[in-house]
Amino acid sequence: MVQTVGLLLGLGLTLVAVVLHFARGTGWQAGEDISRDVLEQRAASVPETDFPEPYNRGVGGGAPTGAIESGASEGELEETDDEDAGFDPEAIEDVEYYEIEFANEGETIEVANNETILEAGEDEDWDMPYSCRQGQCLSCAGHIEGGPAEEFVRHSNNDTLSEEEMDDGYCLTCVAYPTADFTIKTAEQP
Ligand code: FES
Repeated sequence: MVQTVGLLLGLGLTLVAVVLHFARGTGWQAGEDISRDVLEQRAASVPETDFPEPYNRGVGGGAPTGAIESGASEGELEETDDEDAGFDPEAIEDVEYYEIEFANEGETIEVANNETILEAGEDEDWDMPYSCRQGQCLSCAGHIEGGPAEEFVRHSNNDTLSEEEMDDGYCLTCVAYPTADFTIKTAEQP
C-alpha cells in the first residue's frame, strides 16, 4: 500500500514537472531601463556650481552668501558684491610678516601678508585640509582664537563663510592672508 502511494505521488510530481516544462510564460517582459533618465532629470534640477564637492554649500544646503534679503534692491546687491570681492594679493607691494601660532601643530611660524595660511602650513610639510583652494567650500576652514577673523586676516575670496561665522573667528585658510599675529586651530569648521 505504501509503495503504491509513493509510486502515485512520484508519477504525479513527474506529470506536474512535464506540464510546467511545456507551459508558456505569462508574456511579461522587463520594462525599459529608465534609471539613466531619472538620474539626468535629477542632475538637471540641481543648480550649477563652480565647484561641486561635498562641503560646497551651493549644492543642496545652506543659503548662498550674498542672497538678496526680502525688500533689498538690486543696487544694494551690487554694493554687497563689491564688498565681498576681496583683494588681489599679487598687488601687495609692502610685504610684512606676522607670527602665526598653529595650535594643532604646536608651532609658531612667520607668515607673509602675501601668503595664505594654508600655503604657509604646507611649506612646513604639515597635513593641512583643503579641497577647492578658491574660497568656495569649507574644507580648509580654521578657527582664529580671540575674536573676529577679519581683525587678523583678509580673504581674497569668500563664497562660503557668513559674517557671523567670521565674527566667531572662522576663516578659510586657502584664501586668508594675515594682517596681524594670531593663533589658529586648523581643521575647525563652523
Ligand atoms: S579649500 Fe575650499 S575654501 Fe579653502
